[in-house]
Amino acid sequence: MTSNPLRDPRDRRLPRVPEPCALVVFGITGDLARKKLLPAVYDLANRGLLPTNFALLGFARRDWGDMEFAELARTAAREHARTPWREEVWERLAASVRFVQGSFDDDAAFDELAAALADLESSHGIGGNAAFYLSIPPSLFPVVLRQMERTGMAESTDDRWRRVVVEKPFGTDLPSSRELNELVDSVFSAQDVFRIDHYLGKETVQNLMALRFANSLFEPVWNAQHVDSVQITMAEDVGIGGRADFYERTGAARDVLQNHLLQLLALTAMEEPVEFAAEDIRTEKLKVLRAISLPADMRQFAVRGQYEQGWLAGQRACGYRDEKGVSAESTTETYAAVRLGVETRRWAGVPFYLRTGKRLPRRVTEIALSFRKAPHLPFAPTDTEELGHNQLVVRVQPDEGMTLKFGSKVPGSVMEVRDVSMDFLYGEQFTEASPEAYERLLLDVLLGDATLFPRNAEVEASWAVIDPLEEFWADTTPYPYRAGEWGPRAAEEMLAAEGRAWRRP
Ligand SMILES: NC(=O)c1ccc[n+]([C@@H]2O[C@H](COP(=O)([O-])OP(=O)(O)OC[C@H]3O[C@@H](n4cnc5c(N)ncnc54)[C@H](OP(=O)(O)O)[C@@H]3O)[C@@H](O)[C@H]2O)c1
Repeated sequence: MTSNPLRDPRDRRLPRVPEPCALVVFGITGDLARKKLLPAVYDLANRGLLPTNFALLGFARRDWGDMEFAELARTAAREHARTPWREEVWERLAASVRFVQGSFDDDAAFDELAAALADLESSHGIGGNAAFYLSIPPSLFPVVLRQMERTGMAESTDDRWRRVVVEKPFGTDLPSSRELNELVDSVFSAQDVFRIDHYLGKETVQNLMALRFANSLFEPVWNAQHVDSVQITMAEDVGIGGRADFYERTGAARDVLQNHLLQLLALTAMEEPVEFAAEDIRTEKLKVLRAISLPADMRQFAVRGQYEQGWLAGQRACGYRDEKGVSAESTTETYAAVRLGVETRRWAGVPFYLRTGKRLPRRVTEIALSFRKAPHLPFAPTDTEELGHNQLVVRVQPDEGMTLKFGSKVPGSVMEVRDVSMDFLYGEQFTEASPEAYERLLLDVLLGDATLFPRNAEVEASWAVIDPLEEFWADTTPYPYRAGEWGPRAAEEMLAAEGRAWRRP
C-alpha cells in the first residue's frame, strides 16, 4: 500500500484518490456499462479522481480489438457523461483501455484475462489491484465467479486487493439470495464484496444521515412520540421500456421495494451509528430491517396494481399487458404499496407506508415524515381548516432537496392558519453539482469504502420482508390503475382506512 507521508488524512481539501488499480468490467457491451459505468469512469477521470496508474479492461463475447473497444467506450462516455467533454482527458484514459474477448465458459479467455492483468502490473504499474464489475445477467454470476476462483484472480494478498461488484437483483427470494451470497463469499472475502444499490449513491440519501446526525433540531422529534406516519415513494412515469422479459419475472416489489425502498426505510429509521464508518452504519441498518413487521391484514394493507391504457403528459400510454413481450394474462405487478411497522422503542406504532409504481404521473422519489397534530389548537375550528400535519419531506430525486411544511398565519385581520412550505434545494444552495450515483459508488469501490453498500445480512433481511408478501400475492390478480394515475383505488383505501391519505408529491 502506498500513502503520502506528507498528507494528513483528516485534511478534506484534497480529494481521496484510489491506489493504482484496474477496473475489469464483465458485460462491457451491455446497457448498464454503456449508460452508467463508462460515463462514470470518464467523469471520475475528468475530476482528477482516478489514479495516474489506472487501467480499464472490458470482457465480452464479440471479436473486437482494443481499438474497437476504445471507440465503443468513447461513444458511450461522450453520450452520457455528466461533466463537460475534454478530449485530452479521454485520450489519456484511452491509452490504458484493454479488451479481452471470450465467452464466460471459455477457460482460455479467462487465462488470457489473468495474463492481461499481470501484464498491466508492469506496463501500467497497477500494483496488482483490481475491481471486477459483474455487469451481466445474474444467471451468469456463478460461472464468472468460478472462473475467477480457478484462475486465482479473486485472491487478495498483503500486496494487492481484489474486489467484486455485484449488481442487483441479489436473488429473487430469501433462499436464492442466500445461495448467491454463499457463492460470492466463497470466492471473495466479505470485505471485498460490494453490492450495488445505486440509490445509496445519491447525495440526498447520504444527506439524510447528515440531516439527522449533524443537527440537534430534528433528532428529538424523530420518533413515535412526534411522528404520526412515514411515507416513502418511488414513482416512475415511464413504463417497462424494452425490458419485458426481466420485468415479467420480477415485478415492482422485487425490483424496487426489496432494495431501494427498504434501504431508504432503514436509513430513515436507524439509530445513530457509533461512528460514521461502514460497519457501524450497516449494523444500525440491519437492526431496523430485522425489526420490520408486516401487516396482520395483508388484504387491506398490501396492495399491488398493474397499469392499464391511459394518458401521461398528453401522450397515450398502452396498458402493461399490451407492452411488447408481456403476456396478455400477466399478473405481474407494476405498482406495489405496503404498510410496514418497525418494532423498536423509537418507532412502535408508527406506520411506514411504502409505494412504488410505473406509469405514475411523475418521476419522483421522496421520504415524507408526517408529524402528529398539535394536541390542542387555541383557535376557532374554522380558522385552522387549511392546516394539515407538519411534514418534513426529503426529495431524493429530482430537484434534490428538502421541504418543511408547517402552519402559518395568513396576512389579514383574522387569525386564519394555513400550511406553508420552506424549501432547501441542492441546486440553489451549492455551486457544485452532485456526482452521479455510479460515479460516487465506483470511486468508493476503488477506495475500498463500503459505507454505501448493503452487506449480505441486509439483503437477506430484506427478502425476509418481501417473501411473505409475494406468497400472499401469488394467487391474486393486481388491481388495475390507469396509466397517469397515482395507483389503484385500493391503495387510496389502504390509507383512508386509517384516516390518512397519500401525499401528492
Ligand atoms: N441496465 C440497467 O439500467 C440496470 C440497472 C440496475 C441493475 N442492472 C443489472 O446490471 C446487470 C447488467 O444489466 P444490463 O442491462 O447491462 O444487461 P445487458 O444489456 O443484457 O448486457 C449484458 C452483458 O453481458 C454480456 N454477456 C451475456 N452473456 C454472456 C456470455 N455468455 N459470455 C460473455 N458475455 C456475456 C453481454 O455481452 P454481448 O454484448 O456479447 O451479448 C452484455 O455485455 C444485470 O445484472 C442487471 O440486472 C442493470
